[in-house]
Amino acid sequence: MEKDPECISYLTQQQAVEIDALLMGPSGFSIDQLMELAGLSVASAIAEVYRSTEYNRVLVICGPGNNGGDGLVAARHLHHFGYKPYICYPKRTPKPLYTGLVTQLESLSVPFLPVEGLPQELSNDFDILVDAIFGFSFNGMPRPPFDGLIYGLLSARKHDQTFQRSPVIVSVDIPSGWHVEKGAVNSEGITPEMLVSLTAPKLCAKMFCGPHHFLGGRFVPPSIVDKFKLQLPPYPGTSMCVRIGKPSQADVQAQISLKNVEKHGEADPFVQFQKWFDDAVAAGLKEPNSMALSTASKDGKPSSRMVQLKGIHGEGFVWCSNYGSRKAQEISENPHASLLFYWSGLNRQVRVEGFVQKVSDEESEQYFRSRPREIQIGPAVSEQSNVIPGRQFLHQKYKEIEEKYSDGSMIPRPEHWGGYRLIPEYFEFWQGDESQVHLRLSYVAEEIDGKISWRRTVK
Ligand SMILES: Cc1cc2nc3c(=O)[nH]c(=O)nc-3n(C[C@H](O)[C@H](O)[C@H](O)COP(=O)(O)O)c2cc1C
Repeated sequence: MEKDPECISYLTQQQAVEIDALLMGPSGFSIDQLMELAGLSVASAIAEVYRSTEYNRVLVICGPGNNGGDGLVAARHLHHFGYKPYICYPKRTPKPLYTGLVTQLESLSVPFLPVEGLPQELSNDFDILVDAIFGFSFNGMPRPPFDGLIYGLLSARKHDQTFQRSPVIVSVDIPSGWHVEKGAVNSEGITPEMLVSLTAPKLCAKMFCGPHHFLGGRFVPPSIVDKFKLQLPPYPGTSMCVRIGKPSQADVQAQISLKNVEKHGEADPFVQFQKWFDDAVAAGLKEPNSMALSTASKDGKPSSRMVQLKGIHGEGFVWCSNYGSRKAQEISENPHASLLFYWSGLNRQVRVEGFVQKVSDEESEQYFRSRPREIQIGPAVSEQSNVIPGRQFLHQKYKEIEEKYSDGSMIPRPEHWGGYRLIPEYFEFWQGDESQVHLRLSYVAEEIDGKISWRRTVK
């Protein structure tokens, strides 16, 4: 058995098989119990990192074995945690344990989607893809339809320049298609953002470089710990999972000494922004696209609030909002505004100042359509910045709209909801340093012969 510098044991396939046999033999566990605990650990880890309000639509892809069963249990818990799970379970196992789980999910109206019913592009329809296809006992090459499903997971991770999120992939115990001990051999292999190792991580988990590695296995009895000399981390509080492995943040931090920023600061501030944004994503920071938007009224009185960056399109930073809100009023009186990103885990701040315009109706429509259906109802309900008779009024309005479109018909975009774009005139990238000698990289837009160029200064 190997230990890593953090002193966590990594199991070979043989050890994982032996531990499973001991759990279900002398240790007195039934397979149902272990599956419940595994599925609950997976759902808990997902809920710890991905909020259901933002990552609501979860596709759980289940294989024919125990790993698939863990996925079914996780889906049931996710439903109760407020997510909207969908299941793809193409090779159902006709044993009571599995048929029972299917019945439980059906009784919650969790949809089961056939492989041929899955959308071409998983990235458009789901926020989280749970890979519960193959576990540690799998050997060999994946066969249809699982080879195609794994390919679907591979291509769902397209990272574009739009900040439109691709779905995150969460693998249960082993990223499917990986070798249990050697990791992703031969082919590219899927690259999940989250791996939830069960009982103890398997050797392949050493090759996992995503931002979120969790362990779920708060049930291993001392007899097994002693027999295998397992080194396992303590679980916090009453949690069913514990974060393990170094967050990739540490690697990013190592690369970003002040000298590096100074030397490698890009000539184009948009490229510089993209780099830092990618670092924030890679570091697994929560909501890296959240930014404080400051506006001011015509008499210069400022106000700030958080909004979410939808993307950088047409040379500007786009967010969506209610056109009847206070910020909208202020922008209409005074188009000058400022955005502020703060990525605390990286000790970085980015300031972007410029002027704001509304985006076209077509563009707003695109943003609206890219939102999950449940979230499309929000703008229709919202009375942003207007006084309402009470929260009950909003709940009532939400229910009315939900019922009106319960047949699945298209929810129209409310006229008062749309995008804004801030066209930058000034950027400032701030890198904090323990020595308190911080670095500021600023870019001022200058118009030369009708073309914008950026003057860069380091302070
Ligand atoms: C993390 C976070 C993200 C938010 N994102 C948005 C957003 O994208 N658009 C928006 O209109 N409001 C968003 N809000 C709510 C705003 O901060 C604010 O409360 C609301 O837009 C009304 O602001 P106003 O009265 O100044 O116009 C967000 C709030 C938080 C905490």
